[in-house]
Amino acid sequence: MTDSSHFYDVTIIGAGAAGLFCAGQAGQRGLRVLLIDHGDKIAEKVRISGGGRANFTNRALDVRAPEKHFISDNPRFCRSALSRYTPADFVALLDKYGIAWHEKHKGQLFCDRSAQDLIDMLLAECAAATAQGGRVDRWQPCSIKKIAEFQEKNSQCHNTQATPRFIIDSEKGTVLTHCLVIATGGLSIPKIGATDFGYRMAQQFGHSIVPLRPALVPLTFDEAQWAAFVPLAGLSLPVKLETGNGKNKGSFDEDLLFTHRGLSGPAVLQISSYWAANTPIRLNLAPQQDLLALLKDGKSRSRKRIANELHGTLPARLADTWTQRSPDWQRPINEASDKALSALATSLTQWHITPNGSEGYRKAEVTAGGVNTRELSGQTMESSKSPGLYFIGEVVDVTGWLGGYNFQWAWASAFACAQACFEAKNTVAAALQPSTKAMPTKAT
Ligand code: FDA
Repeated sequence: MTDSSHFYDVTIIGAGAAGLFCAGQAGQRGLRVLLIDHGDKIAEKVRISGGGRANFTNRALDVRAPEKHFISDNPRFCRSALSRYTPADFVALLDKYGIAWHEKHKGQLFCDRSAQDLIDMLLAECAAATAQGGRVDRWQPCSIKKIAEFQEKNSQCHNTQATPRFIIDSEKGTVLTHCLVIATGGLSIPKIGATDFGYRMAQQFGHSIVPLRPALVPLTFDEAQWAAFVPLAGLSLPVKLETGNGKNKGSFDEDLLFTHRGLSGPAVLQISSYWAANTPIRLNLAPQQDLLALLKDGKSRSRKRIANELHGTLPARLADTWTQRSPDWQRPINEASDKALSALATSLTQWHITPNGSEGYRKAEVTAGGVNTRELSGQTMESSKSPGLYFIGEVVDVTGWLGGYNFQWAWASAFACAQACFEAKNTVAAALQPSTKAMPTKAT
């Protein structure tokens, strides 16, 4: 510890959604907070999220069973934080700032104007700390060279009376901090600053990592296998899509998008979080129809080509391309065998196809897996390995569905952590107070 060291109650690494929100919450509880990010821009993922309008939460989140919309090796971990800071709480905050929002599909809430409104609100929340006796400083861009547990156990910092527990060697100087919060997010979109820093820090402090994989990501197929479907690129339609079985099963009724290399759209992004390599996904391309009954009815009354008969039921491009796949399906429907019609209906409603991979972290919205939640407190996000160390947001093994759930996890885990940092400081302050247990006095 040197005279030029900076002391903070809380140092947060990563000024993204979770880090920024945590900084404001901790600062407004009177704590001195330092926020460090290696990027020169703030909250880049918030800025690009939701097509520039940030799908900032989801009203459908069930606070009694939030694990329904989240994937984790330890599904109930997220419950405490998500039920203590809810979508309604975040909406109330937006309303306080007069930020207009609207609801879209399935409870998804978006800013009316721009995600920048949300970033400005998060920054204003940090600035509001000063009025509450706290402070949020931001060092950006600033890279971290090294973090270690602070060894001078008996040294106390005169300005806050809390003992520093971590020492951070950064590009802008040495920082001593009582609480250290890792909020460096996942690996997706490295070109806007994603790194594996959080996972490396977790391992340095003895944590295990639930294997990482890109999630909410388009799926790809072997080129030769996909060639027949390339003409469908750009086509979108509602489908039912499933993968896995038992408790690992994912099932979604959403839109599918064909691309040049594979499949995308909300249905595929959702299912990608459940998909395991080398296993098939199961699609029903006509979930609202009894396709076989429809084809049999067509056979009894029509002489149109099968593809034309399907035009009313499926997008014409899909019907034309699909029926090219067998000579049995390229004839007038009244001449088709029942077996051929049955095979066609099955191929469209039970299409099982095995992706060869995904578009990877370059295109993934999130990283599934992360810091093992069995080694964190679900109440506070504190490490069980190193007191004073916290992990929040996407770096933790909690992955939300598409639709605002990942931001809600960022807000809720940040809120739980800020509360815990405040309590940690109060505990230290109380311990350092001269004892209030006065000498026993004589009873009168
Ligand atoms: P986040 O990624 O926001 O922040 C991490 C911060 O840490 C970054 O500022 C980064 O620069 C910094 N950092 C990384 N390494 C560092 C290092 N070594 N040193 C210092 N700083 C470092 N979710 C949702 O709910 N609704 C939506 O609409 C969308 N839309 C969306 C679109 C796209 C294109 C993407 C990629 C993602 C989404 N998401 C989303 C997901 C959402 O953006 C994501 O889950 C949250 O931003 C996670 O918040 P965090 O704060 O954990 O990480």
